[in-house]
Amino acid sequence: MVKRENIVWHNGKVNPEQRRGLLGQKGLVVWLTGLSGSGKSTIAVEVEKRLLEEGYWVYRLDGDNVRHGLNSDLGFSDADRDENIRRIAEVSALFADAGMITLVSFISPFRKMRQFAREKAGAGHFAEVFVRADLETCARRDPKGLYEKAKNGEISDFTGISSPYEEPEDPELLLDTTRMSVDESVEHLLDYIRIVV
Ligand code: ADX
Repeated sequence: MVKRENIVWHNGKVNPEQRRGLLGQKGLVVWLTGLSGSGKSTIAVEVEKRLLEEGYWVYRLDGDNVRHGLNSDLGFSDADRDENIRRIAEVSALFADAGMITLVSFISPFRKMRQFAREKAGAGHFAEVFVRADLETCARRDPKGLYEKAKNGEISDFTGISSPYEEPEDPELLLDTTRMSVDESVEHLLDYIRIVV
């Protein structure tokens, strides 16, 4: 149902090139996707710190954190996850338009919503990063004890157990955290971002 009526786009007098000139970087959405416990947040935290130290304008949007505020009304049904990602796709596209490097770490299990985020950010402003670890490894790490709860039936719709995860087919970057240390993954991602922005 379309609720939007009588809304007209209002153009500004500032364009992305001007912001780019001012900031010395282009806006980029770095979209980290992967199972819970794959390492998305750990990598994003380190990359954010390093980029800031190098003088980049960077911000991090993390699923667990955003679900405390903007998305606190959402749970883990397929529809709620779609809405979770839809909002973050919109927010991160705005951040990218503002010239920011935005590190987005959400499970984001569904391809169609990751594609939506890509289209919102626009060509050249989006990179999908598949943080890959198999289910057994994530369940063994279980940093929040959630896999244990999911296996015991205490959590429903848990990604990888009772809710699907659709792997990226052609991500800009693959970080296999079962083979690489956190430091190695961080260096790979930093190398990529420095080249792109
Ligand atoms: S997403 O699927 O909608 O992208 P999001 O990244 O925001 O998920 O949130 C995932 C985090 O919520 C996990 O890291 C975990 O800490 C927590 N969580 C709580 N319940 C679930 C669940 N049923 N499935 C997955 N993650 C859950």
